[in-house]
Amino acid sequence: IASPWLRTELAHTDHADFMSKEIGEQPEVAARILDELTPGIADGSLWRALELPPFDRIAIVGCGTSLNAGRVIGTAFSRHGHVPHSAIVASEASSTIVEPRTLVLAISQSGETADVLRAIDQVDLGLSSLVAITNNPHSTLARRADSVIDSHAGPEVGVAATKTFVAQIVTGVCFALSALVATDRVDRYHARWLADDLALIPDLLAQSLAVSLESVPPLVARLHAATGYLFLGRGAGVVYAAEGALKLKELSYRWAEHYPAGELKHGPLALVEPGTPVIVIDNDDPRLEGNIAEVRARGGEVLRIGSIGSDIPALGRGIAEPRRGGIEAWGPLESVVPLQVFARQLALELGRDVDKPRNLAKSVTVD
Ligand code: G6P
Repeated sequence: IASPWLRTELAHTDHADFMSKEIGEQPEVAARILDELTPGIADGSLWRALELPPFDRIAIVGCGTSLNAGRVIGTAFSRHGHVPHSAIVASEASSTIVEPRTLVLAISQSGETADVLRAIDQVDLGLSSLVAITNNPHSTLARRADSVIDSHAGPEVGVAATKTFVAQIVTGVCFALSALVATDRVDRYHARWLADDLALIPDLLAQSLAVSLESVPPLVARLHAATGYLFLGRGAGVVYAAEGALKLKELSYRWAEHYPAGELKHGPLALVEPGTPVIVIDNDDPRLEGNIAEVRARGGEVLRIGSIGSDIPALGRGIAEPRRGGIEAWGPLESVVPLQVFARQLALELGRDVDKPRNLAKSVTVD
């Protein structure tokens, strides 16, 4: 699945597979992107350089992991700039109406996903503009867009996206904040405050990785016989619950679902029986306690990904404690690391090929 050159490169690392290598690169990828992009946030210059027309709303188009990343970027526009956003599943875009002055953000690491390309053909862009966020600035998607934002993750070999997810979010949020300054929706002081918070991301990812590599394997060893997994979150944690469930499905071939934790009582609680693993993104939302109690009362095995004292203490550990807690639109981004490590570890326990899961392709160029 990889060129001889890339295979040789892997052999010179401590990593057994590309997925492990790419998970490990995430702090450095985030740091590199932030170094390059944060100076253009508070003065709006990052956005102005794209020379795009004014916009009143955002529509995100993508598939799989890229759509999850897009949801975070869309939330940054809405939460910090009160710009409404919608997320469009690319394969369902044919029934979508895009209003004038919509900024359409098509997001795809490969830039070649057929569903995304067809979606942008089907959507009547009219007086709207199309921006591509892609890891391949020479791709078909990039050529069709009015402007291209390069997510700069470097080559990703593992079929299940890891570092491109983080890169898309960090890149997209930098551009979103810059756009909000350039269009007078956020003042430069607030933007600087948000940029300071973004600057914490590389350390948070690094700490999360160190904690995950230690705390996740024994949990997987205990839970690997389960046939189904539930992932729960609240607020800004929901999208990471979605990404965790997607990674687990792709890599381990086990059933996994995600829900906003409040939805548990409206159906999924019926799935919980003694021993059912329920993974909770615990970003300090007090409402989670009741949800966790409901699961435990039915014998479910709750795994909390949270700060100190939780099962996987990989969130905001010791850094900027008073400011963390889902205030920012991008929420607990570092929670994706234990989720990736969990999915990979479970896949290895079950004898799967973590770089090339069955039935999946890195770039799906058919409808
Ligand atoms: C495939 C992969 C997914 C990926 C999706 C979108 O289905 O298996 O992991 O998220 O394509 O890929 P893209 O290249 O558009 O980001």
